[in-house]
Amino acid sequence: MKFLLLLTLVVGVFALSDPDEERSIEELIESRGFGVEVHSVTTEDGYILSVHRITSKDGSIGPLKPVILQHGLVGSASDFLVNSPHLHSNDSKYGDTLGFALKLTGRYDVWLSNSRGSRYSQGHVRYTTLDLQYWNFSFEHMAVYDLPAVIEYVQHRSNSSKVAYVGYSQGTAIMFALLGLRPEYAQVVQPFIAMAPVAFVGHNKSPVRYFARSAPILRLIGGEFLPSVNLVNLMAEMFCRHQLRAVCRNLMFLIGGSDYNHLNSSRIDVYLHFTPSSTSTWDIAHWAQLVNSDRFARFDYGTAQENFQAYGVKLVPDYPLHNVSSKAKIALFRGLNDVFVQEEDISRLKRILAEEGKVDLIEDFVVSDPNWTHLDFIFGLNSGRLFIDRLIQVLDTHS
Ligand SMILES: *[C@@H]1O[C@H](CO)[C@@H](O)[C@H](O)[C@H]1NC(C)=O
Ligand SMILES: *[C@@H]1O[C@H](CO)[C@@H](O)[C@H](O)[C@H]1NC(C)=O
Ligand SMILES: *[C@@H]1O[C@H](CO)[C@@H](O)[C@H](O)[C@H]1NC(C)=O
Ligand SMILES: *[C@@H]1O[C@H](CO)[C@@H](O)[C@H](O)[C@H]1NC(C)=O
Ligand SMILES: *[C@@H]1O[C@H](CO)[C@@H](O)[C@H](O)[C@H]1NC(C)=O
Ligand SMILES: *[C@@H]1O[C@H](CO)[C@@H](O)[C@H](O)[C@H]1NC(C)=O
Repeated sequence: MKFLLLLTLVVGVFALSDPDEERSIEELIESRGFGVEVHSVTTEDGYILSVHRITSKDGSIGPLKPVILQHGLVGSASDFLVNSPHLHSNDSKYGDTLGFALKLTGRYDVWLSNSRGSRYSQGHVRYTTLDLQYWNFSFEHMAVYDLPAVIEYVQHRSNSSKVAYVGYSQGTAIMFALLGLRPEYAQVVQPFIAMAPVAFVGHNKSPVRYFARSAPILRLIGGEFLPSVNLVNLMAEMFCRHQLRAVCRNLMFLIGGSDYNHLNSSRIDVYLHFTPSSTSTWDIAHWAQLVNSDRFARFDYGTAQENFQAYGVKLVPDYPLHNVSSKAKIALFRGLNDVFVQEEDISRLKRILAEEGKVDLIEDFVVSDPNWTHLDFIFGLNSGRLFIDRLIQVLDTHS
C-alpha cells in the first residue's frame, strides 16, 4: 500500500513536469511542428555565431520575407520561442509566442540570431571560452560586428536586399547604435521594430542601478559574467516580491524587474531551463557605464590610450543618433511598467531621432495593459492579443 502511494506520487511528479523543461531549442521548435536549421556566421573579428532558422515542417521555404529576431541582455534565441505551450490562443490571430507567430502567418522567413557569448554562440576562430580574451566584448561589438555579419548572411541566404528586424531590449540598443554609425543600414533594415527599446538608461528602475557604481571594477575583472551566488541571493532578498524565490535568483528576472503579474506561474521551470543565457562582464560593465553617465555612449575601455585606439578620440564618443537616416523605418513597442523604459529616457530618444535624425516613427505602440513590464515582451500572458497582432500588422505594412 505504502509502495503504491509512493509510486503514485512519483508518477504524479513526473506527469506534472512540462516536456519543454527537457527540450533543447531545436527540440522545442520541432515539438511545435516546425523544422529548424542552425547556421554558423563568422564575424570580421572571428566570433562564430549560431543563427536558428525556423522552417516549415517539410523543410521547404516559399518566397517569404526574411525577418531577424534579436534577443537582449543575458538572453538567446529561445526567448522568442518559450512563452506559451500552445501554438494558438483563443483571442489572438497567431498565438502568444512571437517566433512561432511570425512563422504561422506564412509570410516570413524567421531567423533567430544569437549574440556572441550567449549560450548558442560561443565559438571563435582562435579562442575558446576559457580564454579571457574571448570575453573582451560588450554590446558595442555586437553592434559593430555581429549585426552586419548576421544581416549580410540572411540577405545572401534569402536573396533579399532588405531584411526586417525585431529587436528586444539590448537587441534594440545595438540596432540604434548601428543605424547611427552606419546610416546606410536604414535602407537595408526595413522595418526596425524595437520592443522594450533602450538607449538612454539614466532613469532606469532596475536593480542594475545599484551596482552601476562598480562599472570600473567590472571592466577590470573582465571574462565571462558570473555573479557570485551570494550577491544574487542578496539581491533576490532585496527585490523579490514573488513567492517563488527561484525566479528571483535567475539573472534575467533579477535584471528585468520584479513584477510578475503576467507570468504563467505553471511554466516557470521552462523559463528557468532556457534562461539566463551568458554574456561578458564587459557587456554588463557597459550598461553600468551608461547608467552612471546618462549617455548612450560607446564602451569605455578605461584609459585614454585604449579609447583612442578604438575610436580615434580620447573621450568616449556617443553613438551618433543624430546620424540615423530619415529613411529609417522605426517602430517602438513599449510597456508603461518597464523598469528600463522610463518616460524621461524614451522621450529623449524619440526627441533626438525626430529632431536631429528627422526620423518619423512608423509606430509608437504602448501596450494597453498599464502593468506591462520589460520581461512581459518575452514571458507575458496574452502577448498575442496585447502586442503581437499589432506587431505583425506593422511588419506586413512596412516590410
Ligand atoms: C481556449 O478556450 C477554451 C474554451 O473556452 C478553453 O478551454 C481553453 O483553456 C482556452 N485556451 C487558452 C490557451 O486560453
Ligand atoms: C583582452 O583580454 C586580455 C586578457 O584579459 C587582456 O590582457 C587585454 O588587455 C584585453 N584587451 C583589451 C583591449 O583590453
Ligand atoms: C535573386 O533575386 C534576383 C532579383 O530579385 C533574381 O533575379 C534572382 O533570380 C534571384 N536568385 C535566386 C537564386 O533566387
Ligand atoms: C555618420 O554617418 C556617416 C556616413 O553617412 C559616417 O561616415 C560617419 O562616421 C557617421 N558619424 C559618426 C560619428 O559615426
Ligand atoms: C500556462 O502553462 C500551463 C503549463 O504549461 C499550461 O497548461 C496553460 O495552458 C498555460 N496557460 C496559458 C494561458 O497559456
Ligand atoms: C495592475 O497591477 C496592480 C497591482 O498589482 C493591480 O491592482 C491592477 O489591477 C493591475 N491592473 C490591471 C489593468 O491589470
